[in-house]
Amino acid sequence: MTAARNVFGSSGAHVPAHSRKEVKQILITEREIAARLHELSRQIERDFTRREMVVVSLLNGTVMFLADLIRHLSLPLRLDFIGVSSYGSGTESGELVFTKELRLDVRGRDVLLVDDILDTGKTLYRVLGKLRALKPRRIKTCVLLNKAERRVEDVKADYVGFEIPDYFVVGYGLDFAERYRNLPFVGILHEEVYKEGCKKINSPRSHKKRRKS
Ligand code: IMP
Ligand code: MG
Repeated sequence: MTAARNVFGSSGAHVPAHSRKEVKQILITEREIAARLHELSRQIERDFTRREMVVVSLLNGTVMFLADLIRHLSLPLRLDFIGVSSYGSGTESGELVFTKELRLDVRGRDVLLVDDILDTGKTLYRVLGKLRALKPRRIKTCVLLNKAERRVEDVKADYVGFEIPDYFVVGYGLDFAERYRNLPFVGILHEEVYKEGCKKINSPRSHKKRRKS
């Protein structure tokens, strides 16, 4: 298994002018993501040979990662989603709420669970518990980003794109208050954006409660 790359924000790439107010620095460029996804998909293909797998992806943060990952997987697979949101304030995770349940039957199947970022681990811990109860043959987990320093629950991912320090990051599917998911890179959000609840920069309304997914 190729080790996840450690990223400390020294890519040297410039934040595009239209994002400079919100994004302090590019942590992982589009090109770095593409290269790493290529490696990850090869790894997954080696581990999941022959049997049809079920890819279970968590909404909404995995949209870009999932699309790019599975288009490089030359394996028979079926795809389903679980919707999970965490209601917390600012950048802290709060109570988990399931917004969409799994529809495919995973009993006896090989499952690949995909999430955008493994932070405290509360989300994956809850979702893994739910999936294991459905008796799949095996479950492997795949995340684009891992913030190991922040872990509260004892959860590890089998496939990790990048190990990152404790920055709040956005882009490539990751959001703050549902914004910035469309940025093609992973960037570090300016502290002022989440301290001010976006109101200075983006919106006339403040965001006391934020919905993460
Ligand atoms: P956990 O339950 O604390 O592991 O958090 C997992 C979820 O929190 C992720 O799926 C994201 O939706 C969100 N999250 C955690 N850290 C970040 C971040 O740095 N940027 C954006 N979302 C994050
Ligand atoms: Mg998420």
